[in-house]
Amino acid sequence: MEYDGVLTDAGQDVKFGRDVMAHAIGAACIDVMDKSCTEVCPVDCIYEGGRKLYINPVECIDCGACIPSCPVEAITVINSQTEGMVELDNATFFTTVLSGRDEPVGNPGGVSFAGVIGVDTELVSAYQTD
Ligand code: F3S
Ligand code: F3S
Repeated sequence: MEYDGVLTDAGQDVKFGRDVMAHAIGAACIDVMDKSCTEVCPVDCIYEGGRKLYINPVECIDCGACIPSCPVEAITVINSQTEGMVELDNATFFTTVLSGRDEPVGNPGGVSFAGVIGVDTELVSAYQTD
């Protein structure tokens, strides 16, 4: 199953707007970065920032395999009703120009093509954990 969606100018994936399920990584991953999720993702769409990992909403096929793999339960299914800022911020990681980079990460087609990104969105960079 391949998702053929596109990003709007605002960087929001259209499948959120259609109320279709999508998977995203929340704040529990910050400064934990267990990475078990990357071992089970069949399409290699979980990218590594500096403090957390991010699921590419276009490349993700919503198979659900990553959810039980995370020991801190950071991965959730989101839709247009989701209010979790860090969850919705997953798409921002791919559509904005991150600190120190010249262009958005975009949709590289898998982590093997992009490598470790190593920087975070503004929201996650400034996020205060307990
Ligand atoms: Fe983070 Fe959990 Fe993956 S801590 S790196 S979402 S396994
Ligand atoms: Fe990958 Fe499936 Fe999760 S495509 S990000 S393991 S929902």
